[in-house]
Amino acid sequence: MSSTTTPRVLDGTAIAAEIKSELVSKVAEAKHRGYTPGLAVILVGENPASQLYVKSKVKTCAELGIYSEMHTPHESVTTDQLLALVQSLNERNEIDGILIQLPLPAHVDTELLLEAVIPEKDVDGFHPINAGRLLSGAPSEKVLAPCTPAGIMEMLHRSNIPISGQRAVVIGRSNIVGKPIAAMLINASATVTVCHSRTRNLPEIVREADIVVAAIGRPGFVTPDMVRPGATLVDVGINRITDPAEFNRFFANSPSRQESFAKRGSTVVGDIDPAAFALSSAYTPVPGGVGALTIAMLMSNTVKAAAMRRS
Ligand code: GUN
Repeated sequence: MSSTTTPRVLDGTAIAAEIKSELVSKVAEAKHRGYTPGLAVILVGENPASQLYVKSKVKTCAELGIYSEMHTPHESVTTDQLLALVQSLNERNEIDGILIQLPLPAHVDTELLLEAVIPEKDVDGFHPINAGRLLSGAPSEKVLAPCTPAGIMEMLHRSNIPISGQRAVVIGRSNIVGKPIAAMLINASATVTVCHSRTRNLPEIVREADIVVAAIGRPGFVTPDMVRPGATLVDVGINRITDPAEFNRFFANSPSRQESFAKRGSTVVGDIDPAAFALSSAYTPVPGGVGALTIAMLMSNTVKAAAMRRS
Protein backbone atom coordinates (compact mmCIF):
# COMPACT_ATOMS: atom_id res chain seq x y z
CA MET A 1 0.00 0.00 0.00
CA SER A 2 1.35 3.45 -0.75
CA SER A 3 1.49 6.45 1.52
CA THR A 4 -0.65 8.42 -0.89
CA THR A 5 -3.82 6.41 -0.21
CA THR A 6 -6.11 7.79 2.46
CA PRO A 7 -5.66 5.88 5.71
CA ARG A 8 -8.61 3.94 7.08
CA VAL A 9 -9.83 5.06 10.49
CA LEU A 10 -10.41 2.06 12.77
CA ASP A 11 -13.53 3.24 14.57
CA GLY A 12 -13.42 1.77 18.08
CA THR A 13 -16.75 3.28 19.04
CA ALA A 14 -18.52 1.57 16.12
CA ILE A 15 -16.82 -1.79 16.75
CA ALA A 16 -17.62 -1.56 20.48
CA ALA A 17 -21.28 -0.92 19.58
CA GLU A 18 -21.26 -4.02 17.37
CA ILE A 19 -19.76 -6.16 20.17
CA LYS A 20 -22.26 -4.82 22.68
CA SER A 21 -25.21 -5.53 20.42
CA GLU A 22 -24.01 -9.14 20.05
CA LEU A 23 -23.75 -9.36 23.84
CA VAL A 24 -27.36 -8.25 24.30
CA SER A 25 -28.52 -11.47 22.65
CA LYS A 26 -25.99 -13.57 24.61
CA VAL A 27 -27.28 -12.09 27.88
CA ALA A 28 -30.87 -12.82 26.81
CA GLU A 29 -29.83 -16.40 26.06
CA ALA A 30 -28.21 -16.72 29.51
CA LYS A 31 -31.40 -15.46 31.16
CA HIS A 32 -33.39 -17.97 29.15
CA ARG A 33 -31.13 -20.66 30.60
CA GLY A 34 -31.85 -19.41 34.12
CA TYR A 35 -28.98 -17.12 35.07
CA THR A 36 -27.99 -13.46 34.77
CA PRO A 37 -24.29 -12.68 34.27
CA GLY A 38 -23.08 -10.55 37.18
CA LEU A 39 -20.10 -8.24 37.70
CA ALA A 40 -18.73 -6.88 40.99
CA VAL A 41 -16.48 -3.84 40.77
CA ILE A 42 -14.20 -2.79 43.61
CA LEU A 43 -13.12 0.84 43.60
CA VAL A 44 -10.87 1.94 46.46
CA GLY A 45 -10.66 5.62 47.38
CA GLU A 46 -11.59 8.59 45.23
CA ASN A 47 -9.29 8.72 42.20
CA PRO A 48 -11.40 10.81 39.75
CA ALA A 49 -10.20 8.98 36.62
CA SER A 50 -10.96 5.59 38.22
CA GLN A 51 -14.39 6.84 39.36
CA LEU A 52 -15.17 7.82 35.79
CA TYR A 53 -14.09 4.44 34.37
CA VAL A 54 -16.03 2.50 36.99
CA LYS A 55 -19.18 4.55 36.46
CA SER A 56 -18.96 3.81 32.77
CA LYS A 57 -18.51 0.06 33.42
CA VAL A 58 -21.56 -0.08 35.69
CA LYS A 59 -23.64 1.91 33.20
CA THR A 60 -22.70 -0.42 30.35
CA CYS A 61 -23.70 -3.45 32.46
CA ALA A 62 -27.16 -1.90 32.87
CA GLU A 63 -27.46 -1.26 29.13
CA LEU A 64 -26.70 -4.89 28.33
CA GLY A 65 -28.82 -6.46 31.08
CA ILE A 66 -25.81 -7.61 33.12
CA TYR A 67 -26.22 -7.47 36.91
CA SER A 68 -23.61 -5.27 38.58
CA GLU A 69 -22.68 -4.07 42.02
CA MET A 70 -20.11 -1.60 43.21
CA HIS A 71 -17.97 -1.81 46.33
CA THR A 72 -16.28 1.45 47.29
CA PRO A 73 -14.10 1.00 50.36
CA HIS A 74 -12.36 4.03 51.84
CA GLU A 75 -8.77 4.86 50.79
CA SER A 76 -7.60 3.63 54.23
CA VAL A 77 -8.90 0.06 53.73
CA THR A 78 -6.35 -2.66 54.55
CA THR A 79 -5.17 -5.48 52.30
CA ASP A 80 -6.78 -7.96 54.73
CA GLN A 81 -10.14 -6.22 54.53
CA LEU A 82 -9.96 -6.26 50.74
CA LEU A 83 -8.97 -9.92 50.75
CA ALA A 84 -12.07 -10.67 52.84
CA LEU A 85 -14.24 -8.77 50.33
CA VAL A 86 -12.75 -10.66 47.38
CA GLN A 87 -13.24 -13.94 49.25
CA SER A 88 -16.94 -13.21 49.78
CA LEU A 89 -17.36 -12.34 46.07
CA ASN A 90 -15.49 -15.51 45.06
CA GLU A 91 -18.09 -17.51 47.00
CA ARG A 92 -21.26 -15.85 45.69
CA ASN A 93 -22.86 -17.71 42.80
CA GLU A 94 -24.56 -14.66 41.29
CA ILE A 95 -21.18 -12.96 40.82
CA ASP A 96 -19.39 -14.10 37.65
CA GLY A 97 -16.77 -11.41 37.36
CA ILE A 98 -14.70 -9.50 39.92
CA LEU A 99 -12.91 -6.37 38.82
CA ILE A 100 -10.52 -4.53 41.11
CA GLN A 101 -9.99 -1.08 39.61
CA LEU A 102 -6.29 -0.15 39.45
CA PRO A 103 -4.25 1.61 40.64
CA LEU A 104 -4.77 0.71 44.31
CA PRO A 105 -3.38 2.88 47.13
CA ALA A 106 0.33 2.27 47.74
CA HIS A 107 -0.21 0.54 51.11
CA VAL A 108 -2.35 -2.20 49.51
CA ASP A 109 -0.64 -5.36 48.24
CA THR A 110 -1.95 -5.30 44.63
CA GLU A 111 -0.34 -8.56 43.55
CA LEU A 112 -1.73 -10.50 46.51
CA LEU A 113 -5.18 -9.12 45.83
CA LEU A 114 -5.17 -9.88 42.09
CA GLU A 115 -4.13 -13.46 42.89
CA ALA A 116 -6.96 -13.77 45.42
CA VAL A 117 -9.62 -13.47 42.70
CA ILE A 118 -10.44 -17.01 41.58
CA PRO A 119 -9.30 -17.39 37.95
CA GLU A 120 -12.87 -18.32 36.88
CA LYS A 121 -14.07 -14.83 37.91
CA ASP A 122 -10.97 -12.90 36.82
CA VAL A 123 -12.61 -10.81 34.08
CA ASP A 124 -9.54 -8.54 33.92
CA GLY A 125 -7.36 -11.53 32.97
CA PHE A 126 -4.70 -10.41 35.46
CA HIS A 127 -4.45 -13.64 37.49
CA PRO A 128 -1.20 -15.57 36.82
CA ILE A 129 -3.26 -18.63 35.83
CA ASN A 130 -5.03 -16.67 33.08
CA ALA A 131 -1.82 -14.89 32.06
CA GLY A 132 -0.18 -18.33 31.79
CA ARG A 133 -3.06 -19.77 29.78
CA LEU A 134 -2.82 -16.84 27.37
CA LEU A 135 0.93 -17.36 26.98
CA SER A 136 0.38 -21.09 26.42
CA GLY A 137 -1.86 -20.30 23.47
CA ALA A 138 -5.07 -21.78 24.90
CA PRO A 139 -8.06 -21.17 22.57
CA SER A 140 -9.35 -17.63 23.04
CA GLU A 141 -12.88 -18.78 23.80
CA LYS A 142 -11.50 -20.59 26.87
CA VAL A 143 -9.30 -17.83 28.26
CA LEU A 144 -10.20 -14.68 30.18
CA ALA A 145 -7.71 -12.27 28.64
CA PRO A 146 -6.98 -8.64 29.59
CA CYS A 147 -9.61 -6.33 28.09
CA THR A 148 -7.56 -3.68 26.28
CA PRO A 149 -5.35 -6.10 24.32
CA ALA A 150 -8.36 -8.35 23.66
CA GLY A 151 -10.13 -5.28 22.25
CA ILE A 152 -7.17 -4.54 19.97
CA MET A 153 -7.26 -8.09 18.56
CA GLU A 154 -11.03 -7.85 18.09
CA MET A 155 -10.55 -4.56 16.22
CA LEU A 156 -7.80 -5.98 13.97
CA HIS A 157 -9.85 -9.11 13.19
CA ARG A 158 -13.10 -7.28 12.53
CA SER A 159 -11.28 -4.78 10.29
CA ASN A 160 -9.66 -7.61 8.29
CA ILE A 161 -6.13 -6.42 9.06
CA PRO A 162 -3.78 -9.31 8.24
CA ILE A 163 -1.75 -10.51 11.24
CA SER A 164 -0.29 -13.90 10.33
CA GLY A 165 3.30 -13.52 9.10
CA GLN A 166 3.25 -9.75 9.67
CA ARG A 167 5.89 -7.91 11.67
CA ALA A 168 4.39 -6.36 14.80
CA VAL A 169 6.21 -3.99 17.12
CA VAL A 170 4.77 -3.40 20.58
CA ILE A 171 6.06 -0.33 22.42
CA GLY A 172 5.60 -0.81 26.16
CA ARG A 173 5.88 -3.89 28.38
CA SER A 174 3.15 -3.46 31.00
CA ASN A 175 1.26 -6.43 32.39
CA ILE A 176 -2.02 -4.76 31.39
CA VAL A 177 -1.24 -4.12 27.71
CA GLY A 178 2.32 -4.64 26.37
CA LYS A 179 2.98 -8.21 27.52
CA PRO A 180 -0.49 -9.63 26.82
CA ILE A 181 -0.83 -7.99 23.37
CA ALA A 182 2.60 -9.41 22.47
CA ALA A 183 1.37 -12.88 23.48
CA MET A 184 -1.87 -12.48 21.49
CA LEU A 185 -0.02 -11.33 18.36
CA ILE A 186 2.39 -14.27 18.65
CA ASN A 187 -0.59 -16.62 19.02
CA ALA A 188 -1.99 -15.06 15.82
CA SER A 189 1.31 -15.88 14.07
CA ALA A 190 2.80 -12.40 13.86
CA THR A 191 6.54 -11.85 14.27
CA VAL A 192 6.64 -9.74 17.40
CA THR A 193 9.22 -7.37 18.88
CA VAL A 194 8.61 -5.65 22.21
CA CYS A 195 10.33 -2.29 22.71
CA HIS A 196 10.51 -0.28 25.94
CA SER A 197 12.37 2.55 27.65
CA ARG A 198 15.72 0.73 27.51
CA THR A 199 15.50 -0.36 23.86
CA ARG A 200 18.42 0.68 21.64
CA ASN A 201 17.62 1.95 18.13
CA LEU A 202 13.91 2.05 18.83
CA PRO A 203 12.99 4.17 15.76
CA GLU A 204 14.80 1.73 13.51
CA ILE A 205 12.89 -1.22 14.97
CA VAL A 206 9.51 0.53 14.76
CA ARG A 207 10.20 1.37 11.09
CA GLU A 208 10.21 -2.38 10.33
CA ALA A 209 6.68 -2.86 11.62
CA ASP A 210 3.59 -3.70 9.60
CA ILE A 211 1.62 -3.26 12.84
CA VAL A 212 2.66 -0.83 15.59
CA VAL A 213 1.02 -1.02 19.02
CA ALA A 214 1.99 1.99 21.13
CA ALA A 215 1.32 1.62 24.86
CA ILE A 216 3.90 3.61 26.78
CA GLY A 217 1.91 6.57 28.08
CA ARG A 218 4.03 9.29 26.46
CA PRO A 219 2.24 11.90 24.34
CA GLY A 220 3.03 11.64 20.64
CA PHE A 221 6.04 9.37 21.27
CA VAL A 222 5.83 7.67 17.86
CA THR A 223 6.81 10.32 15.31
CA PRO A 224 6.29 10.19 11.52
CA ASP A 225 9.96 9.29 10.88
CA MET A 226 9.43 6.02 12.82
CA VAL A 227 6.55 4.83 10.67
CA ARG A 228 6.83 2.65 7.59
CA PRO A 229 4.35 3.98 5.00
CA GLY A 230 1.34 1.68 4.90
CA ALA A 231 1.72 0.34 8.44
CA THR A 232 -1.27 -0.19 10.74
CA LEU A 233 -1.02 2.07 13.79
CA VAL A 234 -2.72 1.07 17.05
CA ASP A 235 -2.61 3.81 19.66
CA VAL A 236 -3.34 2.76 23.25
CA GLY A 237 -2.21 6.02 24.84
CA ILE A 238 -4.61 8.44 26.49
CA ASN A 239 -2.53 11.45 27.56
CA ARG A 240 -4.20 14.63 28.74
CA ILE A 241 -2.26 17.71 27.69
CA THR A 242 -2.70 21.25 28.98
CA ASP A 243 0.51 22.97 27.82
CA PRO A 244 -0.25 25.20 24.78
CA ALA A 245 3.21 24.58 23.28
CA GLU A 246 2.68 20.82 23.47
CA PHE A 247 -0.84 21.27 22.09
CA ASN A 248 0.51 23.21 19.10
CA ARG A 249 3.11 20.55 18.41
CA PHE A 250 0.28 18.08 17.70
CA PHE A 251 -2.77 20.09 16.69
CA ALA A 252 -1.56 23.32 15.04
CA ASN A 253 -3.48 22.30 11.90
CA SER A 254 -6.69 21.11 13.53
CA PRO A 255 -9.34 23.82 13.93
CA SER A 256 -11.77 21.51 15.75
CA ARG A 257 -9.16 20.59 18.37
CA GLN A 258 -8.16 24.22 18.73
CA GLU A 259 -11.73 25.15 19.47
CA SER A 260 -12.14 22.48 22.14
CA PHE A 261 -8.70 23.22 23.67
CA ALA A 262 -9.59 26.92 23.92
CA LYS A 263 -12.86 26.02 25.63
CA ARG A 264 -11.62 23.33 28.04
CA GLY A 265 -7.95 24.12 28.49
CA SER A 266 -7.00 20.51 27.77
CA THR A 267 -7.26 17.75 25.21
CA VAL A 268 -6.12 14.16 24.84
CA VAL A 269 -3.40 12.85 22.57
CA GLY A 270 -2.27 9.27 22.18
CA ASP A 271 1.23 7.77 22.20
CA ILE A 272 1.40 8.34 18.44
CA ASP A 273 1.94 11.79 16.95
CA PRO A 274 -1.24 12.45 14.90
CA ALA A 275 1.00 13.53 11.98
CA ALA A 276 2.14 9.89 11.71
CA PHE A 277 -1.41 8.66 11.05
CA ALA A 278 -1.31 10.17 7.53
CA LEU A 279 1.43 7.67 6.57
CA SER A 280 -0.50 4.63 7.75
CA SER A 281 -2.91 2.39 5.86
CA ALA A 282 -5.13 2.21 8.96
CA TYR A 283 -5.01 3.74 12.44
CA THR A 284 -6.95 3.98 15.68
CA PRO A 285 -7.85 7.57 16.61
CA VAL A 286 -7.57 9.03 20.11
CA PRO A 287 -10.20 9.36 21.44
CA GLY A 288 -12.58 6.88 19.80
CA GLY A 289 -10.15 4.07 19.04
CA VAL A 290 -8.85 1.38 21.38
CA GLY A 291 -10.23 3.04 24.53
CA ALA A 292 -13.79 2.52 23.38
CA LEU A 293 -13.26 -1.24 23.18
CA THR A 294 -11.95 -1.93 26.67
CA ILE A 295 -15.34 -1.79 28.38
CA ALA A 296 -17.00 -3.82 25.61
CA MET A 297 -14.40 -6.57 26.20
CA LEU A 298 -14.98 -6.43 29.96
CA MET A 299 -18.66 -7.07 29.29
CA SER A 300 -17.71 -9.86 26.90
CA ASN A 301 -15.45 -11.44 29.54
CA THR A 302 -18.23 -11.25 32.13
CA VAL A 303 -20.69 -13.04 29.84
CA LYS A 304 -17.98 -15.55 28.91
CA ALA A 305 -17.03 -16.19 32.58
CA ALA A 306 -20.70 -16.76 33.44
CA ALA A 307 -21.09 -19.30 30.65
CA MET A 308 -17.78 -21.07 31.40
CA ARG A 309 -18.60 -21.50 35.12
CA ARG A 310 -21.84 -23.21 34.16
CA SER A 311 -20.53 -25.47 31.42
N1 GUN B 1 -6.83 0.65 35.33
C1 GUN B 1 -6.42 0.99 34.09
N2 GUN B 1 -6.71 0.01 33.20
C2 GUN B 1 -7.33 -0.96 33.91
C3 GUN B 1 -7.88 -2.22 33.55
O1 GUN B 1 -7.85 -2.67 32.40
N3 GUN B 1 -8.44 -2.92 34.56
C4 GUN B 1 -8.47 -2.47 35.84
N4 GUN B 1 -9.02 -3.24 36.78
N5 GUN B 1 -7.98 -1.31 36.21
C5 GUN B 1 -7.41 -0.56 35.24
